[in-house]
Amino acid sequence: MEKFIENLPKAELHLHIEGTFEPELMFKIAQRNNIEIPFASVEEIQAAYAFDCLQDFLDIYYQGANVLIHEQDFYDLTYSYLEKCALQNVRHTEIMFDPQTHTDRGISFETVITGISKAMQDAKDNLNVSSLLIMSYLRHLSEEEAFKTLEASLPFKHLITAVGLDSSEKGNPPAKFKKVFEASVKEGYIPLAHAGEEGNADYVWEAIDILGIKRIDHGNNSLQDSKLVEEIVKRDIALTVCPLSNTALQVVDDLKNHPLKKMIALGLKVTVNSDDPAYFGGQINKNFIEIQKALDLSKKEIYELCENSFTYSLLDDQTKDNYLSELNQSYAKNN
Ligand code: ADE
Ligand code: ZN
Repeated sequence: MEKFIENLPKAELHLHIEGTFEPELMFKIAQRNNIEIPFASVEEIQAAYAFDCLQDFLDIYYQGANVLIHEQDFYDLTYSYLEKCALQNVRHTEIMFDPQTHTDRGISFETVITGISKAMQDAKDNLNVSSLLIMSYLRHLSEEEAFKTLEASLPFKHLITAVGLDSSEKGNPPAKFKKVFEASVKEGYIPLAHAGEEGNADYVWEAIDILGIKRIDHGNNSLQDSKLVEEIVKRDIALTVCPLSNTALQVVDDLKNHPLKKMIALGLKVTVNSDDPAYFGGQINKNFIEIQKALDLSKKEIYELCENSFTYSLLDDQTKDNYLSELNQSYAKNN
């Protein structure tokens, strides 16, 4: 089963580039930028990764991102993740980045996006992994701040496909960002958002009705409301589920109680993703392997999760079809 999972071509649709920052690379970049980090070793960093909730994690995650200063740092971070994609048969990935985490520290939008984009281009050329970018607004900040970010992104519009909404969910409902999402859609960005990770089903309603999102990041708490589930199924909106993130942040107490199988049974379209792999104990294949074991998923179910990952990507239809036939060939050979 593990080999089967590793061999299948797949796409990753829920991934924060700042969340791929492995301790080893963090130390290396901190050293070359002469920045002190409050840890003496890789082991100390790893020991700090025990979280009670989303906010607990976010505090450490934003601290880690502070060592990223130069274009080369963003390049190295991104290329290092894309190399891991190539090793795991991730053929395509849709990468979220949090510009405000960097611009608020005086790093220019251009530095961030140039470093990330150059790595994406090099990964396409050298590793044959395709990718696109999702610019996420930090929901603990104001809508006015999000508007400034939208403005800053416009010279780089050709490099960005979608907008997202992440960070502290509770107390920051989607409706807070209604106007900036409308403006983002006018600029041609596809609207996406985290919803129903810690927030309740009302947040998911707002995300689909008020922000008009095309994909829900997490969406676990949608299951609280059967009308909502019906509506998500009817509108054919996929949920980008992150099993190891959910247990690391205590959204789910045990993978055996993870709602993924229930979601599938209800007719929801689900994908499996790593969210912040450096912090949650595993890349995408580990997420697949652990959830398969916990819920006893069949090969056919694993195949369907991979199929969803291409079908619900933001790629054009022709490119989706090419990846889907690659997946089908691999499935026929390995099944
Ligand atoms: N930013 C990075 N990971 C996140 C998550 N799981 N939820 C909300 N914001 C995030
Ligand atoms: Zn996320």
